[in-house]
Amino acid sequence: MTQTFVDDQASTIDRHPSHRTVLMCRPDYYTVSYRINPWMHPEDPTDTGLAVRQWQVLFDTYKNLGFDVELIDPIDGLPDMVYSANGGFVLDNIAYGASFTYPQRQPEGPAYMDWFREHGFDVRVPREVNEGEGDFLLVGDAILAGTGFRSDSNSHKEVAEIFGREVVTLELVNPSFYHLDTAIAVLDPAPAPGEAANIAYLPSAFSEASLSILQKRYPDAILVSEQDASVLGLNSYSDGKNIVIASRATGFEKQLRERGYNPIGVDLSELLLGGGGVKCCTLELRR
Ligand code: ARG
Repeated sequence: MTQTFVDDQASTIDRHPSHRTVLMCRPDYYTVSYRINPWMHPEDPTDTGLAVRQWQVLFDTYKNLGFDVELIDPIDGLPDMVYSANGGFVLDNIAYGASFTYPQRQPEGPAYMDWFREHGFDVRVPREVNEGEGDFLLVGDAILAGTGFRSDSNSHKEVAEIFGREVVTLELVNPSFYHLDTAIAVLDPAPAPGEAANIAYLPSAFSEASLSILQKRYPDAILVSEQDASVLGLNSYSDGKNIVIASRATGFEKQLRERGYNPIGVDLSELLLGGGGVKCCTLELRR
């Protein structure tokens, strides 16, 4: 009885989609040829054709949602370039460039900065090691910033200086969730004035101190299971109503529905072999 009432209540929540503009990179040269996270097994074969077909479904899904999708040309020899989220952090028409942790990905930093420059962004060349939107997430007016595996916490200070926003440092502790966008999903990218922006997250991915920051700031957050997180379910992309998620994250899908969101599942199994999912393949452009 009560359960039915709660479900009815939830389904009447009226969520409002907002228009999004994103940058993507076709995985024409995708493979797993080195190991810089626990998901990657270079000894196992990958199927570039399948990766492209799965990526195309994500691209088409965004187009069908009315998003503007811009493209950067992939570069031969940079197999991880498909994970455009790592190419920078873009807000207020300013593009803070990436400076990658591992040498295998370092050439991607300048390649993305060139693209930003050619497309009219005010590019800031980074002083500090950081992996762009992989570790920086805009939630309401604040920027949540990950550290522990990739982005150096000094880059959090650099971001605070450049964008003049509150930056909240969060420490990641599980190597499988090495970027912040593998452990937190932003549910409301453009909340109405006075409305709180909510998130979903995997509690065990954070240090105790960081977890208590999250609990305090987002008392209403969706807590996602290990099972859903382990298919990179949190690595999702929302317009405030529609949330594109890994189709295998069925528990998260149900949680989202109960809150009045519209989850849309896509299968990026081939890109998961590189340790990335939906959000990793998506860089938000905020002009
Ligand atoms: N193989 C890539 C790396 O380890 C995957 C990047 C995933 N990107 C992300 N935004 N989480 O760097």
